[in-house]
Amino acid sequence: MALSQFLDALNALESSAVRAFGAAADEPALESARVEFLGAKSGQLKSVQKGLGALASADKPLAGKRFHEVKAAIEGAFQSAKDRLASLADEEASTDDGGPLDPTLPGTPFTLGRLHPITQTIEELTEIMGRLGFSLADGPEIEDEWHNFEALNIPFDHPARDPLDNFYVAAATLGEKPLLLRSQTSTVQIRVMEAAKPPIRVISLGRVYRPDEVDATHYPMFHQVEGLWVDRRVTMADLKSTLRLFATSYLGRDVHIRFRPSFFPFTEPSVEVDFQWGDGWVEFGGAGMVDPAVLTAVGYDAEEVTGFAFGLGIERLCMRRHQITDIRELFRNDVRFLRQF
Ligand code: PHE
Repeated sequence: MALSQFLDALNALESSAVRAFGAAADEPALESARVEFLGAKSGQLKSVQKGLGALASADKPLAGKRFHEVKAAIEGAFQSAKDRLASLADEEASTDDGGPLDPTLPGTPFTLGRLHPITQTIEELTEIMGRLGFSLADGPEIEDEWHNFEALNIPFDHPARDPLDNFYVAAATLGEKPLLLRSQTSTVQIRVMEAAKPPIRVISLGRVYRPDEVDATHYPMFHQVEGLWVDRRVTMADLKSTLRLFATSYLGRDVHIRFRPSFFPFTEPSVEVDFQWGDGWVEFGGAGMVDPAVLTAVGYDAEEVTGFAFGLGIERLCMRRHQITDIRELFRNDVRFLRQF
């Protein structure tokens, strides 16, 4: 065989192999190109190599050198095609499910977050009371003793102030003004009345803290909705009809409401508030007519105005509404539970 013929065959092989590897769009195409050009038994490179033996010995060094160049070029083209397909596969794996689009597969579901059931309850109660003309008020969760106790007519020696029944914060031991995590949202009654003159009609919804043993109905943090209405001639009948509207709006028209005589230092008279629908009465909180001592503590004229206040447990309302039997479910943050609401 003439040298020129051999070199022509090599050149032609190089360009068709480089083209084939460059064009391989997937693994099977690459593999069949590999077998065709680099196959150990009957690949084209192999058969061109056989022509080497048929050359004149004087031509062999040049032909051999060129053969090795072409072989390296073809192997290089194979390797870069392989790298190209691998990085393509990586890209697809990270952006999508890997394969070509199969329109018959179910779609990839995406999960939307949602509001916590307590947050949903707070929003709904705010809306209900808003319709009754109550605007939203807020207060701090870390409180001083004036707002949590004193102004609410809870004197220094009252058992409700026992350190074992409250979460006092460290500042108390540093000899500064004692602070505590508020144990009731009634603190906000004081803050609102200190800041504004009657008529007052507000609600406040938020966290309160008590060192209770944790069980199905107790948690050391929970939420209350506090209502306060102060004006001339506000009466117990206003309290009852407001709470009835509140209960029927949230729980349904068939709810009944009951007051049981009780005692709170900051209301007089005081009642426990029970709701009933379905099976039996459930206590939701306390209420009463604002004690004149409280009105006086915030600088109101107790001869001029009267008021009512109530404080109900938000978890109880939410649990009753959704038939949740264990308060701990609300704070476990298990999405299997939370996604039901
Ligand atoms: N603050 C009381 C409690 O936490 C509830 C209450 C609020 C009672 C307002 C009367 C008036 O138990």
